[in-house]
Amino acid sequence: MTVTLENTDVDPARVAALTERERARLTERTRRSGELFARAGAVMPAGVPSQFQKADPWPVYVDRGDGARVWDVDGNEYADFHNGFGVMCVGHANPVIAEAVKQRMDAGTHFAAPTEGSIVVAEELRRRWGLPQWRFTNSGTESTMDAVHLARGATGNDVLIKIEGTYHGHHDAVMVSVKPPPELMGERDHPNAVPYGLGYPSTTASQTRPVPFNDADALERALTELEGQVAGVILEPAMMNVNIIPPDPGYLERVRELASEHGVVLIFDEVKTGAAVAAGGATELYGVTPDVVCLAKAICGGLPGGAVGMTDELGELVAAGRVRQQGTFNGNPLVMAAAEAALLHVLTPGAYERLHAANRELMGGCERVIERYGLPAHTVGMGAKGCVVMSAEPIREYRDYLTKIHHPLTELAWLYHMNRGVFMTPGVDEEWTLSVMHEDADLRRYVEVFESFASDVAG
Ligand SMILES: Cc1ncc(COP(=O)(O)O)c(C=O)c1O
Repeated sequence: MTVTLENTDVDPARVAALTERERARLTERTRRSGELFARAGAVMPAGVPSQFQKADPWPVYVDRGDGARVWDVDGNEYADFHNGFGVMCVGHANPVIAEAVKQRMDAGTHFAAPTEGSIVVAEELRRRWGLPQWRFTNSGTESTMDAVHLARGATGNDVLIKIEGTYHGHHDAVMVSVKPPPELMGERDHPNAVPYGLGYPSTTASQTRPVPFNDADALERALTELEGQVAGVILEPAMMNVNIIPPDPGYLERVRELASEHGVVLIFDEVKTGAAVAAGGATELYGVTPDVVCLAKAICGGLPGGAVGMTDELGELVAAGRVRQQGTFNGNPLVMAAAEAALLHVLTPGAYERLHAANRELMGGCERVIERYGLPAHTVGMGAKGCVVMSAEPIREYRDYLTKIHHPLTELAWLYHMNRGVFMTPGVDEEWTLSVMHEDADLRRYVEVFESFASDVAG
């Protein structure tokens, strides 16, 4: 059953009225985006390049970014906490990245032959994650796709175990039980595998088994039931598409043990956490090393790229061409130049210290507001990422997100931010990402807007 505001101090009618007012305000402030959206609709389905950019009544079209700021096409200025879905930890138009990319531009941008830059980046990823072998990709989707191929190639098995409610990109094996609707998801202890959209062979879902997050016993049951059929287990060490759900203490350690005991490949999808929650991502933060790690987003300093890290044993399968890992643009010099600049010169140990401190500051500010106005909410965060979860109770898995979060309050907070100069991720499922360019004034702006939301909601 979904939680309602009825038994909190928050008045649902008030939230509905404020939401209507704020929606109208957003529409009014972003008229030029509306014009572009009308034009875009003629050439792109739903008027957007990617489904995730879809928003109601239209997406806010961005004109430019500088540091921690973005400006939309109507000239509205925002402090950017969206940060390109967590890609831009380096900040917009970072001069260090810009210089590296410009230099590479003048020396040629693509050869489909290796350049030294790819070695430098792979060496740095090995240093950060401790996994010995690396290959490059062009996106998070490709990274998790390659990881699944590795797991299947190494074991000769087909079944992939994934976490219910997690998104790992849009290739077939992982487009299962991403956001399953309650009426289809089945029993918690044995969830149905629910395809996410059309377009996959009818047998795809039968080769992916969802299990609840933060429940090692459920994973153990699935591994035992499917003994001899499982290729690997893929999970985000901290779930990041349903606000943020951190792993319970000991959970990742137990998952690691179970994967080894059952001889299946453990894949960490660190597309969101990688280089954002710590230098070596969640692997460093929680001290558990998988067999394969998938990266993208923040590691390439704002250019499109990704990477897969693996054990020596798995690397041999790739080296021998038995598991095919390849692509025209893999290790593209321009992307490598941006990645090298980001990883070696911008996201330095000192930068991580400052990002962690800023995140604590921002979470602390939001916690004080929550307490002052008695909101049914709490904050969760790690490294450069955090969020306000509109639930008085902790959230441990996807079904909690469905039933315990006050989704209308999350939606309203997003509207308040967008209407008052704080750029946030579209939709209600995401988190903020800080960059090295965020200053105290930006954090204050976030908290001030959150306070005006809280005070209006409290009446
Ligand atoms: C955890 C996770 N894995 C994989 C992906 C897919 O990455 P991409 O959008 O670069 O294909 C995403 C995208 O948001 C993600 O959040």
